[in-house]
Amino acid sequence: MTARFAPAAERNQQPILDALAPRLPATGHLLEIASGTGQHATWLAQHLPGWTVQPSDLDPDTPASVAAWAQDRGVAARVRPALALDVTDAAWPIDACDAVYCANMIHISPWAATLGLFAGVGRLAAPLFLYGPFRFAGETAPSNLQFEQWLKAKDPRYGVRDVEDLRPLAAEAGLALAEVLPLPANNHLLVWRPTA
Ligand SMILES: C[S@@+](CC[C@H](N)C(=O)[O-])C[C@H]1O[C@@H](n2cnc3c(N)ncnc32)[C@H](O)[C@@H]1O
Repeated sequence: MTARFAPAAERNQQPILDALAPRLPATGHLLEIASGTGQHATWLAQHLPGWTVQPSDLDPDTPASVAAWAQDRGVAARVRPALALDVTDAAWPIDACDAVYCANMIHISPWAATLGLFAGVGRLAAPLFLYGPFRFAGETAPSNLQFEQWLKAKDPRYGVRDVEDLRPLAAEAGLALAEVLPLPANNHLLVWRPTA
């Protein structure tokens, strides 16, 4: 099995953990959406000892990479085998979790993925910790605009999403924006919590 490596995941994992950890209870089951290489799933399992982590992605290479990372870092017992999960599917292969974490997906996927993410998290009725670059009422950092140009050259359906466009999706899913946490490199962690 091969552990794939994404340099960005290595750079942002400590700031994400610092923001996430104080907002989680001591124990629980975390669903990660769009796990990619599995670096974040493994890192979170290492540093949240009361939690199990359920990674997932639509990428068929993710399960092997996640398993390799988890083995290497000694947390295989608390990192579940990655699920094949496409957020746009009407049903997800998981019924319950205590929190959902999703990093760097909604700007690198068509808008349908953002719709699917909120709908799916709404079905789980769990808090959503959403990390990445965002617009706020149209505004974002120049570096995010440059990044967006690069993204749109790859696929015009990609783009830095506006938090104001996310709010109605969240409301429909029974979630509301509870906190906006600025993180390094003009990224944010958005905390969405169930309203009921
Ligand atoms: C830039 S990577 C981010 C990986 C990891 N979360 C990180 O921050 O390093 C984007 C990931 O989103 C996943 N993805 C894109 N569309 C998706 C969808 N519809 N459902 C689930 N995952 C999706 C891709 O397969 C890819 O692994």
